[in-house]
Amino acid sequence: MAHSLLLFGVALVSAMTDAGAILTPAYKDPSAPVEVRVEDLLSRMTLGEKVLQLCQYSLGKDINVNNMGERLSRIPSGSGAVIYRGGDRELRNSVQRRMMEESRLGIPLVFGYDAIHGYLTTYQVPLGQACSWDTSLTARLCSAVAQELRDEGIEWTFSPMVDVCRDPRWGRIVEGYGEDPYVNSAFAAASVTGYQGPEAARGDYSRLQDGRGVAACIKHFVGYGASEAGRDYVYTEISDQGLWETWMPPFKAGLEAGAMSVMSAFNDISGIPASACSYTLTTVLRDKWGFDGVVVSDWGAVEQLCRQGYCSTLKDAAAAALCAGVDIDMQSSAYDSFLEQLVSEGRVGEQVIDEAVRRVLRLKFRLGLFEHPYLEPAARQDKGEEMKEACESMAAESSVLLKNDSALLPLRSCRRIAVIGPLADDGDALTGCWRAGADASMTQTILSAVRQEFDGRCKVGFVRGCDVEGNPDRGGISAAVRLSSRSDVVILCLGEGARWSGENASRQHPRLPEGQLRLLKALRRTGTPLALVLVGGRPLILSDVVDDADAILETWQPGTYGARSVAGIISGRINPSGRLAVTFPRSEGQIPIYYGRRSPARDAGAGLYKDGSSEPLFPFGYGLSYSMLEYSNLRVGKAGDGFEASVDVTNKGSLDAQEVMLWYIRDVVAGVTRPMYELKHFERLDVPAGETVTFSWSIDPGRDLSFVDRKGERHLESGDFVIYAGGPPATALCCPLTLP
Ligand code: GLC
Repeated sequence: MAHSLLLFGVALVSAMTDAGAILTPAYKDPSAPVEVRVEDLLSRMTLGEKVLQLCQYSLGKDINVNNMGERLSRIPSGSGAVIYRGGDRELRNSVQRRMMEESRLGIPLVFGYDAIHGYLTTYQVPLGQACSWDTSLTARLCSAVAQELRDEGIEWTFSPMVDVCRDPRWGRIVEGYGEDPYVNSAFAAASVTGYQGPEAARGDYSRLQDGRGVAACIKHFVGYGASEAGRDYVYTEISDQGLWETWMPPFKAGLEAGAMSVMSAFNDISGIPASACSYTLTTVLRDKWGFDGVVVSDWGAVEQLCRQGYCSTLKDAAAAALCAGVDIDMQSSAYDSFLEQLVSEGRVGEQVIDEAVRRVLRLKFRLGLFEHPYLEPAARQDKGEEMKEACESMAAESSVLLKNDSALLPLRSCRRIAVIGPLADDGDALTGCWRAGADASMTQTILSAVRQEFDGRCKVGFVRGCDVEGNPDRGGISAAVRLSSRSDVVILCLGEGARWSGENASRQHPRLPEGQLRLLKALRRTGTPLALVLVGGRPLILSDVVDDADAILETWQPGTYGARSVAGIISGRINPSGRLAVTFPRSEGQIPIYYGRRSPARDAGAGLYKDGSSEPLFPFGYGLSYSMLEYSNLRVGKAGDGFEASVDVTNKGSLDAQEVMLWYIRDVVAGVTRPMYELKHFERLDVPAGETVTFSWSIDPGRDLSFVDRKGERHLESGDFVIYAGGPPATALCCPLTLP
């Protein structure tokens, strides 16, 4: 019925057009409703033109038109999308002009790119952002990036990645927001809102049509973070309960925030590859969740169905992916090679193609591409200063103080600081992976920032000691030892190179390299107090390190302007407030390890490891401050149809602090076993020195005390619950709550 009304609308608009003797077809009329424009344009398209809209090509990394001429000519006019990294406005417009002017209907391309944690500059990697617990700051960063992208002629970002991950061996743990579904959900919503604007969730795409926002693409749907043994592109053993309870919630949150696209994943979901899984891509995404946006495959994921042993030919893969619900084929050339044949053979109905094309056209209309296909020469909106300030704030809030024996930090009375280690003067490592258009040579190093921070107060010496692989360099460890011996304190910067984490970067020993360890142990023997500053994209195994440093500060990969905040924490100008959004295991043998585990069948002591502690080295929610923050007076009371929980935090220190409060529940008995702790809310507040601040949480039982079953049905059961408030669950305050 709705469809026929729509067609009537199309006919009416066209009739009015004819009557008015105006030859503008409805799809070119910006005043016509998007759905009318979609149907009008679709009705005019040939099958070949439809298929081209479902294809994404790449303009590649090298955008020098002399080297790309041949590649450019291979992209047929009327194509749907390209991956374009920016940097050449003329090239971008020339490609678009060819698409518009050489194709019969003049359908614009959409240009997409991976802006994962910045574009012209980078800011803290997503795993680090999660440790800030500051979703509004993430939204602000994404909003600034969106403007930078649109100023570059890129309308679509393949971000945020919201794959829950509990395995530090998996390199892509850096790209998501840690081990918890709720944290990934909160940051999914924040990123989408930042990229697209809050209005998009209400169907208002004006910000995107005005060239201020970009289409978000939540990825990788779904379960990629469960990659077996931390390897990449592999099998993932996922139950239906796991899908609904752990891996899918962040995507639902991103869609509720209005995400305009989803990327299908590489992984094999218990036997059905994610890019051919009609249960997730259609039954859940379309039928249950009502998603009307675009699903784009991951790079080559359609062709990889053959390598996964799911399809025998690329033609079969094209049919499997399209019919499962993948609208755009990224880089496999499966759709442009076989879809027309598949339709003529009757293996794929043209109506399936029509539905996919509708979603692609809808995306383009919502982005305003028909009205503004070209990058206008309007001046760029310089987001540099805004980005710099936000990047520094994120680096400050996301760094996690893991150890601080004898309050070594902040440095107060020292005169001679030795900055040592392979990551002390390495801006590349701080820039992180997926750096888009950022120039790593512009990234301030920790050494430079420490020199700036202590300028005029302390003498700052530097020795690298070894390279990031651990190979001693000139002078090597002995030079470092000499510097340490004549200094008051050592700031030792160790960790991972930028590309030691990210895609295709699995490590079976997520630890510091031997050579870096040798450097640490040698410096320890000098007896000079030592603060270890960690740089990297994953929780490293630190068991053989933790006793050799008086203080340990995890900074992740804080981006172009992050080092200044690291130095600010070292000096005490910034009071650290980060809390871990991912667990640090004691050993590889503990992996996967995460806070939200089920209660074991036997009481404490039974079933634990016999060869060492079963507890993590640093638990989820852990993080130290320079202030003594005391929690008291947790109370929960009825409030309307729900409850109100509150807790007081008193800052006993002399430094103003920011505190992150984590709120968990435990559903003691339920129709499906529940994790012993489930994070349901978090809040970051200022706690000035000497003052008491109350943190509160309005508990909505339907949202916060219910659980989902393996069919995706949500249940709220009466009974006993426990409410927790604090950092790590095991040390949080708790209070019982009974739901009648
Ligand atoms: C890569 C990644 C995906 C990215 C895409 C386009 O293989 O898996 O996250 O968005 O290709 O670069």
